[in-house]
Amino acid sequence: MTQRPYRSALYIPGSKERALEKARGLPVDAILFDLEDAVTPDEKVAARETLAAALKQGGYGPRARIVRVNGLDTEWGADDLRAVAEMAPDGVLIPKVNSISDIGIILDTVPGIPVWAMMETPQGILNAAAIAAHPSVAGFVMGTNDLAKDLGTRAGQRREPMLYALGACVMAARTHGVVVIDGVYNAFKDDAGLEGECAQGRDMGFDGKSLIHPAQVEIANAAFGPSEDEVALAERQIAAFAEAEAAGQGVAVVDGRIVENLHIVTARATLAKVAAIAELNGE
Ligand code: COA
Ligand code: MG
Repeated sequence: MTQRPYRSALYIPGSKERALEKARGLPVDAILFDLEDAVTPDEKVAARETLAAALKQGGYGPRARIVRVNGLDTEWGADDLRAVAEMAPDGVLIPKVNSISDIGIILDTVPGIPVWAMMETPQGILNAAAIAAHPSVAGFVMGTNDLAKDLGTRAGQRREPMLYALGACVMAARTHGVVVIDGVYNAFKDDAGLEGECAQGRDMGFDGKSLIHPAQVEIANAAFGPSEDEVALAERQIAAFAEAEAAGQGVAVVDGRIVENLHIVTARATLAKVAAIAELNGE
């Protein structure tokens, strides 16, 4: 299979049976089944069982199933990990990863399950490159709410206070070939605001956005999937470059802009993403 898309990654509280059921029919690329922040302390143990039953029942189709556990420094973390080993999801998401020792400590309990790291502490951001380089790490999810809390920043319109952390994680992820998913947009009824933030995340290089409500899915899918214009341009660039090459030239011109081999790499990646999305949709 081509590299799977991660345009939309919806958090679902492991305690909410209705939401667990609803997720089976949502056009989301990944599900972040949550045992951590979305579940209250008195529901933690029951949520673990509810989630295990939902995953056992299945029906989540081709969506990536990723389970977020509680931190190992909490009373639930170790039991969560043992339960996740049984659930055998597509990934286990570890909160508040500070360094690679936080990864090493879990590997014996969840052998063979790809590890995803919540990037949401100042120390974690500073260690992003080392964490991404860990051979068991498959992806990053930005935890912008926790990070804002620790940094003491206030959210700006364009997330200026967060740009250093976001950029550091994209840089680390791209260096080591791991997936990188942007943080949530809290105002889940503000579609225009979400669109703006998705566009910003897409421009920065994120693969997709983590989401809290089903109404956010289509917006993220559209923002992080190639647009019709991007696809048409990619096709024209590939054709023009092939023509130039056949004529013994290393550069083509499309729409008044030069097209070199490196642009063709991007154009091919755009078409590959379209194919991966079609494959996920069973087309
Ligand atoms: N995943 C799947 N389904 C969800 C969902 C989610 N994250 N959030 C809501 N739904 C479902 C509801 O169950 C409801 O289904 P129904 O129509 O079949 O009854 C439908 O979507 C509409 O929900 P709505 O009434 O608009 O929202 P709400 O008021 O019930 O819940 C939130 C709003 C924000 C509390 C809820 O979306 C939520 O818990 N989100 C996840 C929060 C989270 O995971 N936080 C941790 C990460 S930051
Ligand atoms: Mg968090």
